[in-house]
Amino acid sequence: MNRPRRLRKKSSIRKLIRETHLSVNDFVYPLFIEEGTNIKKEIASMPGVFRYSLDRINEELEELNKIGIQSTILFGIPKSKDAIGSESWNDEGIVQKGIQHIKTQCPDIYTIADVCFCEYTDHGHCGVIENNDVDNDKTLINLERQSISMAKAGADMLAPSGMMDGMVRAMRDTLDLEGFVELPIMSYAVKYASAYYGPFRDAADSAPSFGDRRTYQMDPANKREALKEAMLDLQEGADILMVKPALSYLDIVQDLKRNTDVPIATYNVSGEYAMLKAAASKGWIDGEKMMMESLTSMKRAGADIIVTYHAKEAAIKLNNT
Ligand code: PBG
Ligand code: ZN
Repeated sequence: MNRPRRLRKKSSIRKLIRETHLSVNDFVYPLFIEEGTNIKKEIASMPGVFRYSLDRINEELEELNKIGIQSTILFGIPKSKDAIGSESWNDEGIVQKGIQHIKTQCPDIYTIADVCFCEYTDHGHCGVIENNDVDNDKTLINLERQSISMAKAGADMLAPSGMMDGMVRAMRDTLDLEGFVELPIMSYAVKYASAYYGPFRDAADSAPSFGDRRTYQMDPANKREALKEAMLDLQEGADILMVKPALSYLDIVQDLKRNTDVPIATYNVSGEYAMLKAAASKGWIDGEKMMMESLTSMKRAGADIIVTYHAKEAAIKLNNT
């Protein structure tokens, strides 16, 4: 009889035949930086995740260094917002200053700039509003401005997350023209209109003040359309493709992995983190085990890069086993 259990007898043989191995090298840790001083504020729905002002961010950077996490993605919370999000291309803006700070303090920390407008607009949408909806091509012009500003600040990679058509091409063209030919783009190519972003919108003060994001983010019911979005972004010059959220969309991660030849990232979003933390705090689940199982499933599905609020905890766990 064929007995698969023979290979499950002991930890040593289970390790020998293990197909998927998580590593601290897989993780990108999101950082929220807020304009102001002496701020370290825990995000209510994301226990263990904080908003920092720049003068306190070194605490976090030292911790990342110690644990061995080398990559971060930055989100900024500016003091002033307007209708078009113009603060996002201010060379002295909060994320620009954050990048400069990190690159001088810890040049080895790879710094990815999220490129979008929802944290910078007073209405919370990801671009310029015309007739009650985000105007695609007007937003692209501002996206170019923001990209150049982040590039000049010294970002190692840009990650456009607004789901505008043609965003990757617009960015690639302007970056190349301005001499940033070597700056890679990780596109949030397949980003669904998801309820799982709720806690992030509290964290970044970026909830839309009217309507929702369904005219630009994808319908969760669609899978073939994900491949279309991915292929378009590849043609436009994306270096890495991201799927977001992660857990409910692992079929999409697998699809992109099989059908493209670029690295695939997935974003283990705020709502996924919040659910796990809430249940764990009630003692309803084993939070650490479930975290490792979830992250493993993302990698097993094909993710090369995992953006996750669990990065620090998971890395500590991996360092100790
Ligand atoms: C905004 C942006 C969002 C996230 C990253 N960039 C949210 C949104 O579309 O509202 C979500 C991250 C998370 O939920 O952890 N462009
Ligand atoms: Zn946005």
